[in-house]
Amino acid sequence: MKYLIDTANLEMIEKCNDLLPISGVTSNPSIIKKEGKINFFPHFQKIRSIIGKDKTLHIQILAEDSDGILKEAHTILDKVDKNVFIKIPTTPEGLKAIRLLKKEDVGVTATAIYTKTQGLMAMEAGADYIAPYFNRMENLDIDAPDTIAVFADMIAVYGYHTQILAASFKNIAQVNTAFKCGAQTATVGPDILLAAFAVPSIKKAVDDFAADWKQIFGAASIRD
Ligand code: E4P
Repeated sequence: MKYLIDTANLEMIEKCNDLLPISGVTSNPSIIKKEGKINFFPHFQKIRSIIGKDKTLHIQILAEDSDGILKEAHTILDKVDKNVFIKIPTTPEGLKAIRLLKKEDVGVTATAIYTKTQGLMAMEAGADYIAPYFNRMENLDIDAPDTIAVFADMIAVYGYHTQILAASFKNIAQVNTAFKCGAQTATVGPDILLAAFAVPSIKKAVDDFAADWKQIFGAASIRD
């Protein structure tokens, strides 16, 4: 089970990478828009330098035709690094591009998955990750937990190397459900991840421990 963070914000990436056991960073053009008109390639080089080479970095292409997708993918691989996972929306043209990139052994994340067929075809095309859009599916009354469970079953039954990278969450309960249904990885907005630790009872417990210790020993630290 692995957590990635779904952001292009450098401060948040630094903070989460320092504090939390995250395994990588994902983004898409809408997430990048929140950062304004960034200097695209240097920005992602910086993200790579923050997270290091052992964590996964997933960058989305914009082209909608397979030739254009391949060209953009190679530009990203040349200008950021060869280990980037290229995020490709799971359209028919996207599936063609995934098959061609996998022949070159490029890492691929099939994204924008709302239906079982998209995910199953992306597995067949050789995608390393498939990204079902949990909250967006629920908004459309598509059963996201069942879809993820079917993907997990098919991966187990047929031995696909593909991992489920669940995405698009509005709260941490959805993330936990995705893991329970068999997602090996989930990409989550840092605000949602950090909110899971902002429960007042957690702070009260920590404050109570400190106060009780101080009452007995008169000092605020075990070292004093
Ligand atoms: C993954 O990177 C997806 O693009 C992302 O999680 C979509 O999230 P949204 O539905 O909140 O836009």
